[in-house]
Amino acid sequence: MAQCLVTGGAGFIGSHLAAELLHRGHTVRVADNLATGLRSNIPAGAQFVPGDLRDPDFAAEAARGCEVVFHQAAIASVPQSISEPRPSHEANIDATFNVLIAARDAGARRVVYAASSAAYGDSPVLPKTEGMRVDPLSPYALQKLVGEEYCRLFTRIYGLETVSIRYFNVFGPRQHPSSPYSGVLSLFIKCALSGTAPTIYGDGEQTRDFTFVDDVVDGVLSAADATGAAGEVINVATGVRVSLNHAWAALESILGPLEAPVYEPARVGDVYASQADIGKAERLLGIRPRVAFDEGLRRTVDWARSTS
Ligand code: UD1
Repeated sequence: MAQCLVTGGAGFIGSHLAAELLHRGHTVRVADNLATGLRSNIPAGAQFVPGDLRDPDFAAEAARGCEVVFHQAAIASVPQSISEPRPSHEANIDATFNVLIAARDAGARRVVYAASSAAYGDSPVLPKTEGMRVDPLSPYALQKLVGEEYCRLFTRIYGLETVSIRYFNVFGPRQHPSSPYSGVLSLFIKCALSGTAPTIYGDGEQTRDFTFVDDVVDGVLSAADATGAAGEVINVATGVRVSLNHAWAALESILGPLEAPVYEPARVGDVYASQADIGKAERLLGIRPRVAFDEGLRRTVDWARSTS
């Protein structure tokens, strides 16, 4: 059983990861600055070290004695990175660099890094394969890509095993609709439950490979041990694309008739179509998605109802 560090472990994905690691018998330390995460998300049994990974000393302290580092901490919003690029840069690049140095110096066996499909940009070619040319359209996309490249470099020059997992649009319980930058499904569910109209930026026919959080946790945990994954970039998603108009309609089939969406111009830096090729994850990580979109949406609605 390993001593693990989960950065961003008070956040949406990180807290699910921490809980599953504990469930599998590992020892878990959570490092989080609670900028968007919540203390109440941290699972019982995890050690919590509050602090900011932009501080190299804090990163070193957090990584001390850890065998595996799951680097999930980030400012995970495309539009926020456009309106406030500096904090986004510092949280997504400087902190990642500090975590890699800290993991190397702590003698960690592996770092699993939360990368993003935003790196693919707007190429019309679908599905997105890891070998495709990248085309970052926002500071966020570029920052996540720089993190990947740092991971790859640390594997090459320092022998620190790293795996970059490109997330697509992750959703599920504990994704809070607390800011306009929150994930679109969390915002849609909030509108649906409160009887208000959602805003759709663009024509609503843009697509996303919405991935239920349990499937992401599966992929990330497999990446911690998979042989042949070190130094690699791997998509973890479902391989299916769903439009925003369809997602709102799917909520109507769960909840009954809803308000019609209000359409506004597309956001700057937004990607139109997104869908993963998941062959590499199947080959290298031995995983397949288990939760279909409708089922994941139902579970997320149940959670949102139970908390509202
Ligand atoms: C998301 C993630 C990002 C991740 C990336 C991978 C969030 C907050 N962001 O970015 O961390 O790396 O996927 O692909 O989870 N939209 C609306 N109405 C709204 C909000 C959003 O129409 O109220 C639209 C957006 O313009 C976009 C789509 O919904 O077209 C998805 O937006 P969002 O959930 O913010 O995620 P991404 O930008 O895809």
